[in-house]
Amino acid sequence: MTQDELKLVVAQAAIAYVVEGEIVGVGTGSTANFFIDELAKIKHKVKAAVASSEVTAARLRSHGITVLDLNEVTSMPVYIDGADEITPQGAMIKGGGAALTREKIVASVAEKFVCIADGSKLVDVLGKFPLPVEVIPMSHAVVARKLNALGGEARLRMKDGEPLLTDNGNMILDVHGMQILDPLTMEAEINNIVGVVTVGLFARQGANVCLLGTAEGVKTLQF
Ligand code: 5RP
Repeated sequence: MTQDELKLVVAQAAIAYVVEGEIVGVGTGSTANFFIDELAKIKHKVKAAVASSEVTAARLRSHGITVLDLNEVTSMPVYIDGADEITPQGAMIKGGGAALTREKIVASVAEKFVCIADGSKLVDVLGKFPLPVEVIPMSHAVVARKLNALGGEARLRMKDGEPLLTDNGNMILDVHGMQILDPLTMEAEINNIVGVVTVGLFARQGANVCLLGTAEGVKTLQF
């Protein structure tokens, strides 16, 4: 199976976690896109969605799915999203699509985080995938120095020759070469650096379930 086929099968499996008549939180990225397209097939069964990015909101709306502002929502049973890396304990690196802050915010309102990922995302130690950190633009150089002091090499994410700007108007530092042996401590430490908006480590609130696409079928990991 190709990576895209694995993403499709986990997206299809995630539909079983959507609660009828309720609001569903929706992530960002290529796996989330497969999920959105599957969700469109049962859109009459869901009340509405909350999106973790402008691009996800646009795709949901293009299918005729109502998108609510998170400020109008007090609870939702489930948030469904991909990951860049996930450990057997459910800690994740996210933010490859630069949507980490909104992803963390929407996930914080959901009762359950269902991660959908192809099998290549499962790792014993996080950090081979560069760790995204969203920063206030005026702080990117000072934050980069502090991240480097933690043992990584922070690089400003670029797009078309300019620093990439997130949906929140901030910048992304991608930290290369970090072996994250204690994700919980590292998440707190990086979040405490002045100028950091969000670190793309999801350990304090990681996944509750991971649907992992493998050659042998979809494996369900519970955390
Ligand atoms: C976006 C994310 C994505 O969930 C992550 O990058 C995985 O993306 P994909 O499903 O395309 O592999 O965190 O900010």
